Amino acid sequence: MSYEKIIAQNREWIEETFNKLDKKLSVTAVKSRDKIPYTTKDGVHDDRSKNPDGWTNGFWGGLMWLMYEATGNEEYKKTAQRSEEIEDKAFENVEKLHHDVGFMWHILAGANYRLTGNTEARNKNLFCAMSLMSRYNVEGDYIRSWNSWSKDDNTTGWTIIDCMMNIPILYWASNEIGDTRFKKIAMRYADMAMRDHVRPDGSVNHIVVHDTENPGVVIETLGGQGYGVGSCWSRGDAWALYGFVLSYIHTKEERYLDTAKKVAQYFVMNAESTGWLPLLDFRAPEEPVYYDSTAGAIAACGLIEIAKNCPEHEKNIYLSAAINMLKTMEKAWCNWSETEDSILQMGSERYGSGMHMPIIYGDYFFAEAILKLRGSKFLPW
Ligand code: GLY
Repeated sequence: MSYEKIIAQNREWIEETFNKLDKKLSVTAVKSRDKIPYTTKDGVHDDRSKNPDGWTNGFWGGLMWLMYEATGNEEYKKTAQRSEEIEDKAFENVEKLHHDVGFMWHILAGANYRLTGNTEARNKNLFCAMSLMSRYNVEGDYIRSWNSWSKDDNTTGWTIIDCMMNIPILYWASNEIGDTRFKKIAMRYADMAMRDHVRPDGSVNHIVVHDTENPGVVIETLGGQGYGVGSCWSRGDAWALYGFVLSYIHTKEERYLDTAKKVAQYFVMNAESTGWLPLLDFRAPEEPVYYDSTAGAIAACGLIEIAKNCPEHEKNIYLSAAINMLKTMEKAWCNWSETEDSILQMGSERYGSGMHMPIIYGDYFFAEAILKLRGSKFLPW
């Protein structure tokens, strides 16, 4: 079935869900204007504005830009601009910036610039791209992910699959200033992730520890936020799924689309086996059962982009999987009541802690997926 036909069959649900998003978010946009929300406490958004280097801090403003683009409602724009103003504090301590500048700034200042032409926002986004590029280790041939948390940690050789979502800021910078160094380093990262993070069956290693001096030498892999070494943290799989199709969109290199499809097939097979509600880890013991709605929302975004970019006869597999997952999660896990500030429930930070709670990026990616289904041409990444 064609892409358009599947969308037409689901049009009523897509529009209904978009209207629910707009109804609820137009209220919280005003109510939480001066906050950087992460989760909710007793139904009310918390506020992370005192921690300006938090990796999730761009999602609230990013969500506001998505809704502004879709509706033209100035209240969304005001909250997005306020969010960026609060986040500017992160630049007071630049050595604390880490690889997540893409998550934090590209969907915030980067979206601001792309939607309004604001040149101050453009400069901030360029600065973040330069900061990410400066994390490239020329000896080991990878972009370092996290900073060390204390003087006893050594994370200099670490990469995490999540960074596939940070490298789009490098593709953007490359085009923006006509300097292909940014794109080339992004592609080196994607090639490394294809080789060292993605396993032959489409599952992924969350953390890879590299030899810092010798390219292509993996010292070990770590379980990270999943169940353990060798398991498959579903959000990591979703970051890979969406991240590789984004690398394809920005480079047109088929190997990235092929990798996105391989990861997608693994994700979809697992999500379908649990009734389209994705587990927190696809290779954890059967009991206890832990879910992660954020993985489903991120994966849905990637699946829709794969469907848009693959040959006609394959589109159905990816688009229908995205819609099945979004519809099932909407019914089971979305809270549309205005007494609760968050929307998508049942997100999980990591295996063993912070499980089954609303997390801001769950709402962000759920909304991004619905807007894609409505036909938005704005790609924030
Ligand atoms: N990037 C960290 C996470 O997905 O939790």
